[in-house]
Amino acid sequence: MPDEKYAVEMNQITKTFPGVKALDQVDFKVKKGEIHGLVGENGAGKSTLLKILMGVHQKDSESGDILLNGEKANINNPIMAEKYGLAAVYQHMMLAPKLSVAENIFLGEQPTKNGIVNWDYMYKETRKHLDSLNLTEINPKSRLDSLTNVQQEMVAIAKAVSHDANILIFDEPTALLAEKETEELHKTMLELKEKGVSIIYVNHRLDEVFEVCDRVTVLRDGEYVGTREISEVREDDLITMMVGREIGDLYYKEEIDKGEKILEVNNLNSGKKVIDASFELHKGEVLGFFGLIGAGRTELLRTIFGADKIDSGEIKINQKDVKINKPVDSINAGIGLIPEDRQKQGLALPLSVQDNCSLVSSMYSSNLGVLDKKSEEKETRRNVEDLNIKTPSIKQKVQFLSGGNQQKVVIAKWLNVDASILFFDESTVGIDVGAKKEIYKLMAELLKEDKAIIFISSYLPELLGVCDRIAVISEGKITGILDREEATEEKLLQLATV
Ligand SMILES: Nc1ncnc2c1ncn2[C@@H]1O[C@H](COP(=O)(O)OP(=O)(O)OP(=O)(O)O)[C@@H](O)[C@H]1O
Ligand SMILES: [Mg+2]
Repeated sequence: MPDEKYAVEMNQITKTFPGVKALDQVDFKVKKGEIHGLVGENGAGKSTLLKILMGVHQKDSESGDILLNGEKANINNPIMAEKYGLAAVYQHMMLAPKLSVAENIFLGEQPTKNGIVNWDYMYKETRKHLDSLNLTEINPKSRLDSLTNVQQEMVAIAKAVSHDANILIFDEPTALLAEKETEELHKTMLELKEKGVSIIYVNHRLDEVFEVCDRVTVLRDGEYVGTREISEVREDDLITMMVGREIGDLYYKEEIDKGEKILEVNNLNSGKKVIDASFELHKGEVLGFFGLIGAGRTELLRTIFGADKIDSGEIKINQKDVKINKPVDSINAGIGLIPEDRQKQGLALPLSVQDNCSLVSSMYSSNLGVLDKKSEEKETRRNVEDLNIKTPSIKQKVQFLSGGNQQKVVIAKWLNVDASILFFDESTVGIDVGAKKEIYKLMAELLKEDKAIIFISSYLPELLGVCDRIAVISEGKITGILDREEATEEKLLQLATV
């Protein structure tokens, strides 16, 4: 029976891709004026369900139906979805990089006056939308690609909000965001909810789900597991619903003895973002890098990795001076960098899981470029099992994997290179809790083999959970290095803003 209290009713939705049943008779109901969390492991079907709602994908024709505000809806494409009052921010949504912020927000619907584009109005309205998200530092006239990743994500959010939609979809919008931006987003979500807007929120950070959602629905392996009131469910129970078993403490950490010094950085300078950086890293150790977005954490890693130019300073590996001018130099010296932007730097989307997993290792392997497909296959199968990569086969093109599973391939690719120092740069973004724990366990294995890890994350609970020491970076400078025992969220935030 259609029910007036629901903004969205998806009943018995099934979706089959070649070789994959992404959704199997899934029910999903969102009340008017509620924030509804949608959670589940990587590949559970969350994005697929929402893309069906947005008309990007079509459900299998014989399956189920969709009702909006109690009435049957035929959402054949995204333009129709918009007419029905739906708007979405997708997982790694692509806006137009060469257009201005204002043009992006008004893309395809530029306001005109007497037949010509009304730029004044466009800029004024854009300013209003940006201000409502407290994005006062973004200029509506700036080209999108002149903004940071985070600012671009915030523009995508402003664009969705600008549509006056009555049903808003956020598919992992906070993946790249830090505390401050996430807070702004949550505030905006709560304000929209007050106005009666219904919001669907996909997020692997469950504490954020608990913070703003009214109810939550869990999917597992393309099936509906259940819907709960947030006030009546505990995080552990939710995880058990997602994973199908208890996982215990998420932040897995073993006591591993600290070995010799493996990396030493002295007075390193690069451009304006790396200023006089000095620190050391020991075998068996995880050193965290914390800082606000734009503080220079990534730049410091890129400089050590040889991706950015070193202006001055020295780098020692195993107590020996090394000259690093380009990434090949640091890879040869035993460094591996798992980057933060899987789509731009991490993956060859049209290639298979196997080809991606062996991309770097085959380039640097000692067998003189003779590819041993058999051992490559074996290695990839182990990666798929270790990291629980959800794919119908190792020959599947990476572009058809879910967001989190793509990120697991990026990690696998670098684990296959026999690096002794690994840089994790926001590498667990978008990865579900169960798989995160597997990654922390793999990290412990690496540490036991006398390797060392530098771990960048914007997510404090994770940093505090997995690091032995945490270096805080503010405006290009290291402002403090705290031991695990003395580090707290307050102290880290304080050092991040000096
Ligand atoms: N275009 C496609 N072609 C083939 N398979 C696909 C396609 N899109 C998604 N899939 C498969 O459908 C399943 C569900 O994917 P979906 O992207 O919905 O997962 P998700 O819950 O959003 O995961 P994540 O948390 O990693 O984003 C996955 O097994 C994925 O590989
Ligand atoms: Mg997804």
